[in-house]
Amino acid sequence: MRAVDLIQKKKRGEVLTKDEIDFLVQGYVNDEIPDYQMSAFLMAVYFQGMNKRETADLTLAFVNSGDQNDLSAIQGIKVDKHSSGGVGDKLSLVIIPLVASLGIPVAKMSGRGLGHTGGTIDKLESIEGFQTVLDPETFIQNVNTYKMAIVGQSSNLTPADKKIYALRDVTATVDSIPLIASSIMSKKIASGADCIVLDVKVGSGAFMKSVDQAIELAETMVEIGKSLNRKTIAVVTDMSQPLGHEVGNANEVKETIEILRGKGAEDETTVVLTLASYMAVLGGAFNNFDSAYLKLSQILKAGSAVEKFKELIRIQGGNPEVVDAPHKLPQSKYHIEVKASESGYVSAIDAESIGITAMLLGAGREKKEDQIDFSAGVTMVKKVGDDVNTGDVLCVLHTNRKTWEEASEVCRKAYSFTNAKPKPITYIYKVIR
Ligand code: URA
Repeated sequence: MRAVDLIQKKKRGEVLTKDEIDFLVQGYVNDEIPDYQMSAFLMAVYFQGMNKRETADLTLAFVNSGDQNDLSAIQGIKVDKHSSGGVGDKLSLVIIPLVASLGIPVAKMSGRGLGHTGGTIDKLESIEGFQTVLDPETFIQNVNTYKMAIVGQSSNLTPADKKIYALRDVTATVDSIPLIASSIMSKKIASGADCIVLDVKVGSGAFMKSVDQAIELAETMVEIGKSLNRKTIAVVTDMSQPLGHEVGNANEVKETIEILRGKGAEDETTVVLTLASYMAVLGGAFNNFDSAYLKLSQILKAGSAVEKFKELIRIQGGNPEVVDAPHKLPQSKYHIEVKASESGYVSAIDAESIGITAMLLGAGREKKEDQIDFSAGVTMVKKVGDDVNTGDVLCVLHTNRKTWEEASEVCRKAYSFTNAKPKPITYIYKVIR
């Protein structure tokens, strides 16, 4: 077999066999196939697509390229959750303690932020002392004892996806449905959970810009999950504006505490309750979505899951005092107000631009090796549907950098206004199971 023939085959829109896909993935991981051939192959997939069988085979080739977690020592049905990536997406931080408070084991593996999207692991590391590296025994013991644990992705889990994802990032081949589906699902399968709830984001801050594309991605991932015997549900949710009011790291932890106290913004509280309810049903704690949603709403309203978040911080070595004293989280030196230069209703906020603003303030990485500033970020004072007068504060930028003009300009341009009140945003577009 030769890589060039397989690139040619895909370029013509033909279907590859499982052996051919394995050959390409293994060859690339073993450095027998160079970056330029893999790049050409990825671009051929970008334009010609892959059918469901090819996508499932690509997923398995990624899974088989590295280790797989054995979670069989954890009692009960293990439920995992994954987001396709967004801006202000602190939902995992809320969902882990919330679902664990029902007695359902949550064994979570999460990533770091790259580009305009944030990562759960970075957000948690903004809490002094929080350890995101746990040995497998401690991880399993914590899930059995406390029903929750979270770690960063281990280095030898799906190494093929890691290498190919880095290549996609620099060859404009990220936003391809078969490539995203196989990338996400391979990590979920290798991480060992029994059931998976997927949060597929759609809108200006997501990889999928249209609802139809997001539904196709969601359906593809659900089929892959089912074909590999994982109960999988995907929820297509809004990312046309940042979620909630905080975008960054430490400030997102602060907002997590607010949500867990029942004081979260409507958009993120609705999505949290929807995803957590499906996790609760798959985890066997409820036999229908409505009763799970009602119970979880009551838990949020009572604010009791905040104690579970404190417990998560304590068992992973962090300082739980931040929950009652959020000012102990990292704070930046400068706070800059971005003001409206016109009056009207906020009709749109480009989520990607707000993510870029946060990155320019120091909250994100442009390159993998960049250090992030946990205290940097954006507080969204005005959101879509709010009315503003000229001079009103739209956002507050938090940074330790003296040069924030570019960030302020990107942020201001992210806002659009109209005279008429815009239609309310849909938070949940579709559920696929
Ligand atoms: N997240 C992933 O893990 N992979 C992708 O391809 C896109 C988002």
